Amino acid sequence: MTRRLIVTGASGFVGGSIVCQAGDAWEVHAFSGREPPIRRDGLVWHRLDLLEPGQVTRAFHELRPNAVIHSAAIADIEYCQTHQDEAWRVNVETARLVAELCREGGVRLVHVSTDTIFDGEKGGYREDDAPGPVNYYGQTKLAAEAAVVATAVNWAIGRLAIVMGLPFFGRGNTFLPKMLVALKEGRQVGVPQAEIRTPVDVVTAGRALLELAGNEFQGRIHLAGNEVVRRVDMARRIAAHVGFSPDLIVPNDPSVIPGRVARPRDVSLDNTVARTTLKTPMRELEDAVDLVMRTKMGN
Ligand SMILES: NC(=O)c1ccc[n+]([C@@H]2O[C@H](COP(=O)([O-])OP(=O)(O)OC[C@H]3O[C@@H](n4cnc5c(N)ncnc54)[C@H](OP(=O)(O)O)[C@@H]3O)[C@@H](O)[C@H]2O)c1
Repeated sequence: MTRRLIVTGASGFVGGSIVCQAGDAWEVHAFSGREPPIRRDGLVWHRLDLLEPGQVTRAFHELRPNAVIHSAAIADIEYCQTHQDEAWRVNVETARLVAELCREGGVRLVHVSTDTIFDGEKGGYREDDAPGPVNYYGQTKLAAEAAVVATAVNWAIGRLAIVMGLPFFGRGNTFLPKMLVALKEGRQVGVPQAEIRTPVDVVTAGRALLELAGNEFQGRIHLAGNEVVRRVDMARRIAAHVGFSPDLIVPNDPSVIPGRVARPRDVSLDNTVARTTLKTPMRELEDAVDLVMRTKMGN
């Protein structure tokens, strides 16, 4: 039986992956502030403003979905720091509204969160480790998690590690396209030396979030790759794997870049729960790069 799924932030980097990979099991209702980048059977595009509660509530009541994946957020860390009221409204208040609507309608909610809720002092974070965001983006994402936990009944929170990949709809919050352009032109790319992550590819992230929408897992779950890597080594390995010189990747110290907001040092995530609970495999880096490169994008 086809079930109805709402995806918020549908034209974003992660949202695009969800929309493009939802198979026939879902009738997908994409909530977006933009014009539809694609048209296909089983996909209905709703152009609406998530900051207008009336619009969102009306659409929910009309659609009566089985599940929602809430991926919309302001994910730009610098922008969140300098536009705190807006970031709070988008990242926290929208999550609370979606959670309330899900509770009222008996709808399953998959909320998309981030590794950046941790302080980065320890690394190897498990789902029940104490959070401690070091920037405003992280604070909003942590507050959004709290709103979901306090409000929703049937919920999962998928915490994504840094997401690696190409955007399905040609835009979104991702470092890889810019890096590939620079490498093709033979230009050097500066990458933070000290930051340690467990990158997950955007294809796997989308599949895992869709799986969570369709299963009964309750609680927080870390969607992260199988390897703990420094960002600079991640970039070097990706460059080498797709045929460029890793020497073009040069380590930098982002703390000296004017205006760059603090990032947690090591927010590597322990993905044991994902590996033992989900059918979607978590991957090693080169395997993930191969998956990204062979997956058909939406545009
Ligand atoms: N990319 C990563 O490395 C990463 C890592 C960890 C967690 N995450 C989480 O993953 C989720 C998706 O992020 P992303 O990387 O895909 O970011 P993205 O490419 O910027 O997409 C986010 C989408 O959210 C919607 N949105 C943004 N600002 C909005 C506003 N003011 N009002 C209404 N909607 C707004 C937009 O959707 P439309 O364009 O369709 O309107 C936007 O495309 C977020 O919850 C983020 O915290 C991302």
